[in-house]
This record gives sequence, structure tokens and C-alpha cells, in this order.
Amino acid sequence: MSNIEKEVAKRRTFAIISHPDAGKTTITERLLLMGKAIEVAGTVKSRKSDRHATSDWMAMEQQRGISITTSVMQFPYRDHMINLLDTPGHEDFSEDTYRTLTAVDSALMMIDGGKGVEPRTIALMNVCRLRDTPIISFVNKLDRDIRDPIELLDEIEEVLSIKAAPITWPIGCYREFKGVYHLANDRIHVYTPGHGHERTEDKIIQGLDSDEARALLGDMYDNFVEELELVQGACHDFDPEEFMAGKLTPVFFGTALGNFGVSHVLDAFVDWAPAPLPRMSQEREVKPTEETFSGFVFKIQANMDPRHRDRIAFMRVCSGKYEQGMKMRHVRIGKDIKIADALTFFSSDRERLEEAWGGDIIGLHNHGTIQIGDTFTAGENVSFTGIPHFAPELFRRVRLKDPLKSKQLRQGLQELAEEGATQVFFPERNNDIILGAVGVLQFDVVASRLKEEYKVECMYEPINVWSARWIESTDKKKLAEFSSKATDNLAVDGGGHLTYLAPTRVNLSLTEERWPEIRFNATREHH
Ligand code: G4P
Repeated sequence: MSNIEKEVAKRRTFAIISHPDAGKTTITERLLLMGKAIEVAGTVKSRKSDRHATSDWMAMEQQRGISITTSVMQFPYRDHMINLLDTPGHEDFSEDTYRTLTAVDSALMMIDGGKGVEPRTIALMNVCRLRDTPIISFVNKLDRDIRDPIELLDEIEEVLSIKAAPITWPIGCYREFKGVYHLANDRIHVYTPGHGHERTEDKIIQGLDSDEARALLGDMYDNFVEELELVQGACHDFDPEEFMAGKLTPVFFGTALGNFGVSHVLDAFVDWAPAPLPRMSQEREVKPTEETFSGFVFKIQANMDPRHRDRIAFMRVCSGKYEQGMKMRHVRIGKDIKIADALTFFSSDRERLEEAWGGDIIGLHNHGTIQIGDTFTAGENVSFTGIPHFAPELFRRVRLKDPLKSKQLRQGLQELAEEGATQVFFPERNNDIILGAVGVLQFDVVASRLKEEYKVECMYEPINVWSARWIESTDKKKLAEFSSKATDNLAVDGGGHLTYLAPTRVNLSLTEERWPEIRFNATREHH
């Protein structure tokens, strides 16, 4: 194996998908503990954006140092390198979450054992399904009362349309939680409470048919054996191919808070989850083991210090090797730039990495030239695909409180739009500025950031727009004709793309019928 093949094979890049409160923050800490990135769980601050009112969230977002360090975490585990990507929990940020999921190769689905499959889990699973992302599942909070595990598996299968293959099976729950039984290895991992904040080795009992097992289970023994027969008869076996195709999920049980079962999940990522996968570009498929460097930007985030307005572009390395001080081609603008100081996200400062390989995430300082979806290479002109913008569903007209600040407003909105915080549209027929969002909280966040970071106060007014469609046509003549006829509804978005702002659903379908040569796209990709 060549060096690059070794480095790529070592990497696992995944995100956690879950409904708020299922335990994502807790398990993230435990994973970092396993990776020796922290010594005691409880030392990583979470932003917990999903559990707070808007105002709290904005105050927290202003201390953006916290979220930036936790949005990508890299740590070693066994002889592998794990990249864990955080996804914003609040549903108003689903676009950002979608794009983050384009940068991973697999995902961990957390389910609260007391609650089962919740709405946000369903939404995120639907996103994963678009790319057939392999999913490993963890049923959490076994130290509490949980629902019948068989019923939970049924629910996963039915509601999420994915086969569930239990790898471990819980022995009791709440005060009776004794541990989990590894179905294939005939091994009991014994749960001992009180070790949630440290790294411990599981105590193992080999063989369910043993005195030790009988002593541990006591009165529960016969019922447990019976239940297992049922489970083994009725449940799916783990099948690596189906897992890789996103059609089957291995399921583990445990408690993140008690740091039990977490290592089983991490082992499963190392043993089963895919190493960095090839990515499609417009031109060709790019393999992570190719020698020449390439990567794409999936997220842009304001930096720790809002006064400097420096933003970080998060790039997934797709092939080759990143080295400090290297030159990269910024494909969209066709320029070669020297990257002096990209950020790597090794969770412990003691060992900062100066190189990155396929599957790793690096952070580039962005002074306004980088947009979501941009490709960087060692010189080849390829553009990665699959990082879309979605047509917003909510629209507001922006009004300035101080009309003299219009330049600052435009700059602020342009930059926030590049970051993906909102979408901005400039109508052709007047000087309005229209904001589009997928979730209503985005408008509040934008207003607050405009005030804090750009010293611009604005108000919103309702506007009669139902949806936006990006316009394209191979027929240049028709496009010109359409542009002149439909001026009243046309706008240019923050990226300079022509957009049709439809006042109603009926208007949109009539317009689409009337102009068959024109494509009205509900998503847009950067090229
Ligand atoms: P999230 O990021 O998915 O929103 O969830 P988070 O980890 O913040 O967990 C939500 C709540 O569930 C927290 O309690 C957390 O302590 C608890 N929790 C997580 N895993 C387990 C588990 O395995 N067992 C039990 N019993 N609880 C668990 P909280 O009281 O809301 O917050 P905190 O004050 O404890 O931080």
C-alpha cells in the first residue's frame, strides 16, 4: 500500500444525526474522551443552540469561538483518525446541516430509548438517504426507563425505512440495567454505573450460558434467554454490503452519560464504516487516493472575533495531501492562491497536524472570495457537485432604519449570504432587497448579526413572494425574451444568478407551462 492509500484507509469522517435532547452533546464528549482528546468528560462546552430561545442562541452565537472549535473535531482512535462533524440541531438550519452531511462518509444516528424515532431524526435520515449514507445507530439512555427494544427496532424499520440489525442487545434498563449482550460474539459487556466521565474497559463475561452470566442476570435470566431467541429469529443479521448501501443499520444500545456502549459504536465505525469515498465532479469522479490535491467548501462560518469579519471556509479534502504553505487553484475564479495558514481541527492542541488527507476537514481564512460549493485543486479544473442551495420558503423585504447605511447593508447581506446564513435577492425592477430563508429564525439571526457586526439596523416587511426558482436555458434567445417579459418577477441572487420570484404557486406553474424552454430550478449548485 502506498502512503496515501494508508492515510486514506485510516480515516473515518462522520456526523451525528439526532433529535434535540437525544444526547448528541453528551456522546460527542464521550467520543472525544475515547480519542484522548480530552481527559475528563464535561470539559467541552456545547452551544446547545436547539434548546434555547432565539435571544439566547444569538448571544451564544456571538461567542462563536465555542461553536467553531466544536464544529469539526479530529482525534485518533485505535490506529485510525476520526473526523467528527457537528451539525446544527435547530431545524431552521437544515440547509447548513444538509451541506455538512455532504462532507461525511457515514453517520451516527442517536435515538433516545425512552422516546424512539422523533421528527428531527426522520428529517435528517431523509437527507442521508439522498446519498445513501451508511448509518450506525445508538439507542441511548438505557440507564433510564426505555421503551421495549423490539418495538424500538420495529419503529426504526417502519418509520425510517431502513433495516435494523441489532449488534448488541440490552439486558434490562433503568435500575435493572446490567449491560449489553453481543449477539455474534456471545459475550456480555457488564455495565457498572459511576464511570461516565472516564475511560474504562468493559468488564466482559464470555458466554451467556455460564455461571457468571446467570449470577449477573439473576431473576431476569430466563426471560432474557427467551427474548433473545425471539430477537435472533425476527431481526435482520448484519450485512456489510447492505450497510454500505445505506439500506441496513447496525444498532447498539447503551448510555452516553454513563459512557457505556460508546466504544462499541466507535469500534463499529473503525471496523465497518467506509473510509473516505470518491466524490463526483462535473468532469469526473475523484478518488481520495489520487496524488494531486482537491477539496470542496461545504460551510462558511464567521470567525471567533466578529470585529474582524474574518470567516472560515470549511473544506473537505477529497484527494491528495494538504501541506502547510501549499498553492491551490481556486477553480471558480481561476486563480492560484497560496494557503499560508489553513486550520486543522485536531482536538488536542498539543499535536497540531500540519498535513491533511482525503476525508479530513481543513479551515481556510476567507476574506470574501470563497463561497459554499467552491472547489480547490492542485491545478486541474474540476468542480465538485452535490452541494446545493435550496429555494427559500420564506421571504422578507429589508428596510434600513438609517438610509445612509445602504452600502454597509449590501456588504453585510452579501457576506452573510455567502456564509449561507440567508439568501439575498435584488429585484430587477426596483432597489428593494429581499431576504429568503428556509426557517424563520434565520431572519432574526441576520438582523442581529447585521447590527452587531456591520452596525446596520434594519427592519423586515412582508412581501408577496411564494417561492424562488433559479432560471436556466440553453436557448439564449428564449432566455432573453423571458427576461424582458418577466422583469417584474426577476431578481439576481447573492451569487449573481438570475432568479424568478413567484408570487403564488399557481403563478409559478402557469409560467413554467408558458415557457417550456426555460428551466425553473428549485436548487442551485455553485459552478
Ligand atoms: P443533545 O445535544 O442531543 O441536545 O443532548 P444532550 O447531550 O445535551 O443531552 C440532553 C439531556 O439528556 C442532558 O440532560 C443529558 O445529560 C441527558 N443525557 C444524555 N445521555 C444520557 C444518558 O445516557 N442517560 C441519561 N439519563 N441522560 C442522558 P439535561 O438535564 O437536559 O442537561 P444537563 O444539565 O445534564 O447537561
